[in-house]
Amino acid sequence: MSKKILITGGTGYIGSHTAVELIQKNYEVFLVDNFSNSHSSVLQGIKRITQIEPHFTKLELTDKQAVAEYFADHHDLDAVIHFAALKAVGESVEKPLLYYQNNLISLLHLLENMIEYQIPYLVFSSSCTVYGEPDKLPIKETAPIKPALSPYGNTKQISEEIIVDLTKAEDNFSAILLRYFNPIGAHPSGLIGELPIGIPNNLVPYITQTAAGIRDVLRIFGDDYDTPDGTCIRDYIHVVDLAKAHIAALERLINAENESNCEVFNIGTGRGHSVLEIVHTFEKVNHIKLNYIIDDRREGDVEKVWADNTKAQKILQWKPQFTIEDALRDAWQWEKNYRGIKT
Ligand code: WQD
Repeated sequence: MSKKILITGGTGYIGSHTAVELIQKNYEVFLVDNFSNSHSSVLQGIKRITQIEPHFTKLELTDKQAVAEYFADHHDLDAVIHFAALKAVGESVEKPLLYYQNNLISLLHLLENMIEYQIPYLVFSSSCTVYGEPDKLPIKETAPIKPALSPYGNTKQISEEIIVDLTKAEDNFSAILLRYFNPIGAHPSGLIGELPIGIPNNLVPYITQTAAGIRDVLRIFGDDYDTPDGTCIRDYIHVVDLAKAHIAALERLINAENESNCEVFNIGTGRGHSVLEIVHTFEKVNHIKLNYIIDDRREGDVEKVWADNTKAQKILQWKPQFTIEDALRDAWQWEKNYRGIKT
């Protein structure tokens, strides 16, 4: 009998790629999403890759009654992977209440139902944002959690604290927190990928939309940082590698291999790349000349950050398999498929 896994934010970027990996490992997958930052067409993409259409329910996690009804109908779930959250740093600064209400109230509704129906395992989508500007690189899980640089980052810090407190209070509830670095790329099939609604905040979808002619020019936010080429450095990780880390975390919980009720892992490649390196690699692997300019710095950007992922490698037996080149090739393939660009 397949284990039943709920994925919140299941038609989102990382949620959909995780659904594919779970289905291909014979889990029974239940997706919920409110389509605030995704589209129902993703379900067809998942089906075309796996030949299985996952269970899907449109669900607003901030609606207490709706969530209670959903869990009353799905109380035999074995675990939950919680992705659903608003995640645009800049928008969170302009609309803090939207972010606190959405990200925290959704989590609380989810957790109270997990306890009510004794669903024992949670994998939570956290972020390297919780570290702020790091003192030491690469960043270990034991690095200090600094005051958040945005309401978005604060919702991730507060969410982690809520989950930690609950795992202390409840004997039959355990969690793994995955702190992502920068997810990029798309499924190699080209059938699912990143689908930002509106103007992309993040670098790689802005690059692919510029290459597709949807955006006129890529603005590189500053080249006067203390880095080899002056542009910011990030740890960009292929979204499929990130999805597989969720499977590894889930199976650690289900197989009761976790050594404490709440464990934390950095999920990154362990290597940093600058914005210009990403741009030039994209141009090289896709044989495209990208139109970009150097612009002013973006408020709130961290200068350089990349992961120490040795804990995840050792304990989750997880290791990134894809290269930056793979990710940037897959990202462009997805953009071309989605836009019907034949080149
Ligand atoms: C990367 C680099 C920009 C766009 C954020 C969140 C993080 C996670 C990933 C959710 C920076 C530069 C970007 C552009 C640019 N999200 N850039 N021109 O800010 O590292 O992380 O998204 O979990 O929590 O904080 O990602 O892709 O926005 O920026 O020059 O048009 O690309 O300045 O140096 P970021 P990003």
